Amino acid sequence: MTDRREFLKYAGTAVMAALTPSLVMAGRRTLPTRRVPGTDERLSVVGLGQSRAFRDKDVESSKILLKTFFEHGGGYVDCRDSMYHVASVSKSLGENDSAFIGSYFNGGSPVESEASARRLSAIRGAQSVDLMQTVPEDGVPNWNVFRRWKDEGLTRFIGLARHNSSYYDAMMKVMATGTMDFVQVNLSMLETEAEDRLLPMALDKGVAVAINRPFINGRYFSIVKGHSLPAWAIEFDCTSWAQFSIKYILSHPAVTCVLTETANPDHLLDNLGGGIGRLPDAKTRKRMRQFVQDMV
Ligand SMILES: NC(=O)c1ccc[n+]([C@@H]2O[C@H](COP(=O)([O-])OP(=O)(O)OC[C@H]3O[C@@H](n4cnc5c(N)ncnc54)[C@H](OP(=O)(O)O)[C@@H]3O)[C@@H](O)[C@H]2O)c1
Repeated sequence: MTDRREFLKYAGTAVMAALTPSLVMAGRRTLPTRRVPGTDERLSVVGLGQSRAFRDKDVESSKILLKTFFEHGGGYVDCRDSMYHVASVSKSLGENDSAFIGSYFNGGSPVESEASARRLSAIRGAQSVDLMQTVPEDGVPNWNVFRRWKDEGLTRFIGLARHNSSYYDAMMKVMATGTMDFVQVNLSMLETEAEDRLLPMALDKGVAVAINRPFINGRYFSIVKGHSLPAWAIEFDCTSWAQFSIKYILSHPAVTCVLTETANPDHLLDNLGGGIGRLPDAKTRKRMRQFVQDMV
């Protein structure tokens, strides 16, 4: 974990200009993109989760994170409680057009949600928000409202987002209607259930997939602590445990983008490196999963 003082110390150093080994190895600094199925829209393969810097509305720290992210071609920022903050900081950096904001609309009445969406669009100087998403408990009963918002142009995309396999059935029911643009679920070498059923369906239905919990909210790092990366990780340009997880996730064909959460610019650069270079093949994916599962 990084406290604010430590964070600002990084800001004064060369970290902004630093390149992770993987970025250097791949000879490029910009993330590759993947297409949102059925559209011409492309998203960088590594996105940003809701950082503590965003939740705390810490403008200086948010600027450093977002600047680093956008400079490397980043796009998708997942914003549960911080969409106005991320929108205005991105704008102040001159990166309004770079940001693709995944905003949440749950808990309030439809009238309140519409007002929130219009406020976000006004900050961005746009007609529509990028992605209105909600949790299945709210979104399944109100899915027709989300569809109407899309039809009316309040949003370009609609989706459901959750971090636990107990929600997959509800999400897949909506996915089956062919009206969902985005689904956001958990996936990592230690939480693989989405691979069995939800991801194949997303691929089949042409739904964009954003992945959360790539590091199981940090627990992954406690598990791999003290273990060396296997020498064969270099075969897919992987130089850190964070990249090991990111590359595992991105090598699933259904995945559009992985959302990583950090408040530490060094970690952000490490994570961005996970989106660059070669990816493991299906056989290597299995080997990776076994390798990490054996540590638990
Ligand atoms: N819709 C939903 O229901 C839902 C639920 C869960 C998550 N999400 C979304 O998914 C995002 C990511 O999932 P998550 O919250 O479970 O977090 P995560 O990305 O799995 O893990 C974050 C943790 O990993 C650490 N970390 C990140 N990069 C690192 C690196 N390179 N090296 C070492 N440590 C690193 C972070 O600490 P530092 O800050 O110190 O780097 C933090 O403690 C969230 O931010 C949120 O946007 C959505």
